[in-house]
Amino acid sequence: MHKKIVTLTLNPVIDKSVSVAGISPNTKLRCTSPTYDAGGGGINVSRALKKLGEESLCMYLAGGPTGEHLHQILDKAGIDQITVPIKGWTRDNLAVTDTTTNLQYRFGVPGPVVEKEEWETLLKVLEENLEEGDYLVASGKLPPGIPDDFYVLVAEIAKSKKVRFILDTSGEALIKATKSKVFMLKPNLGELSTLCGVTSISAMQLEPLAKKFLKEHDCEVLVVSLGPKGALLATKNLIEHIPAPTVLQKSTIGAGDSMVAGMVVSLLKGKTYSEMVQYGVACGTAATMHEGTQLCNKDDADKLYQWILGQKNA
Ligand SMILES: Nc1ncnc2c1ncn2[C@@H]1O[C@H](COP(=O)(O)OP(=O)(O)OP(=O)(O)O)[C@@H](O)[C@H]1O
Ligand SMILES: [Mg+2]
Repeated sequence: MHKKIVTLTLNPVIDKSVSVAGISPNTKLRCTSPTYDAGGGGINVSRALKKLGEESLCMYLAGGPTGEHLHQILDKAGIDQITVPIKGWTRDNLAVTDTTTNLQYRFGVPGPVVEKEEWETLLKVLEENLEEGDYLVASGKLPPGIPDDFYVLVAEIAKSKKVRFILDTSGEALIKATKSKVFMLKPNLGELSTLCGVTSISAMQLEPLAKKFLKEHDCEVLVVSLGPKGALLATKNLIEHIPAPTVLQKSTIGAGDSMVAGMVVSLLKGKTYSEMVQYGVACGTAATMHEGTQLCNKDDADKLYQWILGQKNA
């Protein structure tokens, strides 16, 4: 049976980047021509999968000329996509680099309001496109108009279709989703704190909290990403810390999504959970080695993975 990866993005974005020599108020700032990148959690996972040599079906809500532009960008990148139309226009964010200081200013806007019929159509399209054995990866926040329990509805569809559901989100949407069956969750420390109802988590509290969470929820694998410290892998009978290699860090944008992409690639190849998180950490760290919105590069990820394996066996 051919298993496929489907990614889901509710709040996609076009990341527009320009540079300018100096930023000051009340004057016309002459910027360079913009470059455009596709972004938003699930879309980033699809882009990272492509870089790692894996195909996926990228499903997202798109509206207006910006929605069409986003479709063109992903088409050019050779990513299979299904869009569900919305009346609101897909958002675009702006990143401005001041070349005199090399500092980047990032301006983000909320997504368009999504109407009930629109997100209901998305759920229908999602159900039609899932087959038993597939992997469904939902990543990112929910845009205005979509109820907090949206990922619960997604989890129910995944369960009925016998599809493994991987979720990377935050806030209330994450808390609600964990009331239902989720195959794998990838919170960072802040998101795990939200899930556990605490304000912060010390190194000593991490393992017991992860174990307690798994006991109380229908989740097979919990991967807590720890930024430069790597990740904690926790299942009902396994707990393991996978350290991240130290690299010259340029930008951490997309580290989490690259990590998720690496883990799904490993799952598809039938690797163990330990190997899955080792490759995920390698891909997350690989993403930090490049500027801006660039995600993980396969060569870097493979080299870092070998390094991690070597450390383990040392
Ligand atoms: N400074 C760093 N040095 C090395 N590796 C890093 C660094 N930051 C992130 N990583 C790698 O990327 C993975 C995911 O990073 P992180 O824990 O920051 O996720 P996140 O908070 O979900 O990120 P995002 O902002 O992309 O959502 C880490 O497990 C690690 O492997
Ligand atoms: Mg994240």
